[in-house]
Amino acid sequence: MSSKEKPHLNLVIIGHVDHGKSTMTGHLLYLCGGISEREMAKYEKEAESIGRGSFKFAWVLDKLKEERERGVTIDLAFYKFETNKYYFTIIDAPGHRDFVKNMITGTSQADAAILVVSAGTGEFEAGISATGQTREHALLAKTLGVDQFLVAVNKMDLADYKQERYEEIKNEMGRELKRFGFNLDKVEFVPCSGMDGDNLKDKSTKMPWYKGPTILEALDQFEVPKKPIDKPLRLPVQDVYTITGIGTVPVGRVETGILKPNDEVIFQPTGKKAKVMSIEMHHEQIPKAEPGDNIGFSCKGLSKKDVRRGDVVGHATKPPTVAAEFTAQVQVIRHPSAIAAGYTPVIHAGTAQVAVRFAELVKKMSKGQTEDKPAFLKNGDGAVVKMIPTRDMVIEKYSEFPELGRFAVRDMGQTVAVGIVKDVVPK
Ligand code: GTP
Ligand code: MG
Repeated sequence: MSSKEKPHLNLVIIGHVDHGKSTMTGHLLYLCGGISEREMAKYEKEAESIGRGSFKFAWVLDKLKEERERGVTIDLAFYKFETNKYYFTIIDAPGHRDFVKNMITGTSQADAAILVVSAGTGEFEAGISATGQTREHALLAKTLGVDQFLVAVNKMDLADYKQERYEEIKNEMGRELKRFGFNLDKVEFVPCSGMDGDNLKDKSTKMPWYKGPTILEALDQFEVPKKPIDKPLRLPVQDVYTITGIGTVPVGRVETGILKPNDEVIFQPTGKKAKVMSIEMHHEQIPKAEPGDNIGFSCKGLSKKDVRRGDVVGHATKPPTVAAEFTAQVQVIRHPSAIAAGYTPVIHAGTAQVAVRFAELVKKMSKGQTEDKPAFLKNGDGAVVKMIPTRDMVIEKYSEFPELGRFAVRDMGQTVAVGIVKDVVPK
């Protein structure tokens, strides 16, 4: 079967800094025929020339000069590879805390994730600690709707391929994932070495105690998510271009519903209406766009100033909801002190970034206890919060439009909380 016929899945690789995401991704591409022997030899030579031989697989993806010199991923890298069953777009995300914003963007586009955790002494512990990114990434993935998940217990070579270390990590990680709402029956924990290639494609002979699937076998157990074509159209705008001879072209990914030429659409929160002239995907005109399609479309009578990143497109008959206020279930993951009513961080929902006030702390859920109208929220607390945007924005109920009903709360360069929208009071 050629890649055109195989079902497609977007896969993001996440995890704490240096746990081996780029190395594993590069190696998977190599094993699936995405990189030739010759190219690999070239990367190896380049990496060795600056004393970073062990980074040869990471270099396939870390193309920026700064990334190679520092040995960290900064921006997202997109690659394609095929397994027996699927055609994957693989997104290698950065683990460093300074680049979580890029990680969020990558994760919001994914159907499935590999969480890479290192089995190296002290490395797993650093990742899972309060200041590490392992738990933050797992929770963000869950919040952003990535329900298919696999944990790569990586760098098993550093743990002498010992079962004890694997079980220790599986138990501790499993507890956290369960707390975040993952169904552990559906999460594989694969012991592997991204560098040496153990359990990536073929079963490793060094871990006879492990009976589960390899990474590639586990990827083939994922399912293609059902396309929500019956729901009203929602398309968060990523960008807006002006193209000579065509005009203003908003670009974005269809989350729900179907868009066709001649449709009467509305851009919220502004309320600007327009008629769709043509739709393009991968530089080709298409007769209709469905959920998952990344498209650009031209509209009659639309000027560049009528639309901007963060707007949401719907049909004029079923417009996206502009929120006067909304109630959310919020989980605090990392705040340096405490959150009180009045707190106004930026939330990321769809493609929008808007400052939103925590107007009222309605209820707190902490360690099995609930408290009405708490004075503060701290790390680890769950809460029901009434929130008021400081400017017009589209927010939907999570139960109706998951993609526009969940958000990350960012402040001081980090993700302090994540949330799910329970109810919206329209403007
Ligand atoms: P960021 O993108 O910056 O978060 O890092 P990353 O997770 O992509 O890690 P990367 O692949 O850049 O690898 C980090 C370091 O770990 C490099 O020195 C790699 O050679 C090493 N490494 C990666 N995988 C393995 C492995 O399976 N075993 C061992 N021993 N080292 C590994
Ligand atoms: Mg990397």
